[in-house]
Amino acid sequence: MPTLKDCEQFIQQLNTSLKNFSFYPKGHPYVAQPIKRSFEMLELLFKESSEINISSVEGIIWVQNIPVPSETMWDFIINIFKVKKKDNMKIMKGIGFKEWENFITRIAGLKEEALDDQFSEFIVFHSIEDEDLKLKARKVYNQAVDIVKNVISEVRMGRIPKADDVKAVVDNMVDMVLKDKQTMLGLSLIKSYDDYLFYHSVNVTILSLALGETLNLKGELLKEMGTAAMLHDIGKVSIDPKIVLKPDKLSDEEWEQMKKHPVTGYETLKKMEGLSEVVLKVALEHHMKYNLSGYPEVVKDYKPHPASMILSICDCYDAMTTHRVYQRCHEPREALEFMTKMAGISFEPNYLKAFIKMLGIYPQGTMVKLSTGETGIVTTPNPSSPDEPIVKVISDIFGNRLESPKFYNLSKKPLDEKNQKIIIVNTVSSTWQDIEVHEHIAE
Ligand SMILES: [Fe+2]
Ligand SMILES: [Fe+2]
Repeated sequence: MPTLKDCEQFIQQLNTSLKNFSFYPKGHPYVAQPIKRSFEMLELLFKESSEINISSVEGIIWVQNIPVPSETMWDFIINIFKVKKKDNMKIMKGIGFKEWENFITRIAGLKEEALDDQFSEFIVFHSIEDEDLKLKARKVYNQAVDIVKNVISEVRMGRIPKADDVKAVVDNMVDMVLKDKQTMLGLSLIKSYDDYLFYHSVNVTILSLALGETLNLKGELLKEMGTAAMLHDIGKVSIDPKIVLKPDKLSDEEWEQMKKHPVTGYETLKKMEGLSEVVLKVALEHHMKYNLSGYPEVVKDYKPHPASMILSICDCYDAMTTHRVYQRCHEPREALEFMTKMAGISFEPNYLKAFIKMLGIYPQGTMVKLSTGETGIVTTPNPSSPDEPIVKVISDIFGNRLESPKFYNLSKKPLDEKNQKIIIVNTVSSTWQDIEVHEHIAE
């Protein structure tokens, strides 16, 4: 932890830099000196942490959770937060003096919100409420995993589980998807090799709710979509685990067993109280495929529920992007390319199009090689300019992992050392399995 004195001096110098800018021109010693000193103090603070957080809460400035008292108030700093309508600013280690000076020059005397939240890869504005939202999202995710676990163990023990908990957590998930879709989609990158079924159920729920919302499902139907997704594979509980976890190709007989899980699931859900017909239908139909060539077999003019068609897209995407005993995981883009070939066969073409558009050409979590030679992970896709997402650099050109985070917002056209615009050269899949992608996104 930095000392209060260090924090105070840093804030003092920053406030003075901003104040003096309103009286003196850039380059004047009264401006240049405090900028220099504030940068020196910043470097001192970076000895303790790779990220410095400055927050403004009801007129009090906090640095790294330490309130920095003042008799005169830090009016000039407080003004920045007011104008930005944010209450937190993160400064990342690695920022150079020029960037710091440039930031202060741009922000001094700001009267309207003329700066982007992601000012550079080293400075980002947040709101504490957003941070709380992220924590809440994580809590809801964990809750959902626990609830699926309970339901599945109840079924394993031959009991009939209650639907109330599932429906309650789905309500929260719907709420979170409507408030912060990107954070929820980021959480769907949490994969588990051992507890596949629990995490798969929750991830498919997030993806289905996000796609459902994109396709204008609302109210009760959206909730039913979520409940169905949470419970869609419940029939797998009745299959011999040796078949479910078999690394090799299934024999014909084993495959016949596997194909029963939608019907078994339907039967189980039918016994549960409080589930609607849509939920049951989706569990039954999730492997039917768009052209009805899947299972269970049905008459040729059968009409699956649209929610089943949404689920089958999300189900396939999550399964393909997860490492399994019988398959290496596919990189998000690779999975989408494969799925595109199945449009009109396995998947409803318009829903699939909407799904790909929702995830972007570089979906969150995609590992990319940059023109600088560095490797990064897409943390925030950019729907208005899909090839310019925000990328978190995780390793340098020699493949060494970076100790402190570094971000490129490619829509800001950052330049490399040769003054060339930094772009994504290609996606990387070989190292995909060694990296816990969601941890990079969650930061
Ligand atoms: Fe399934
Ligand atoms: Fe599934």
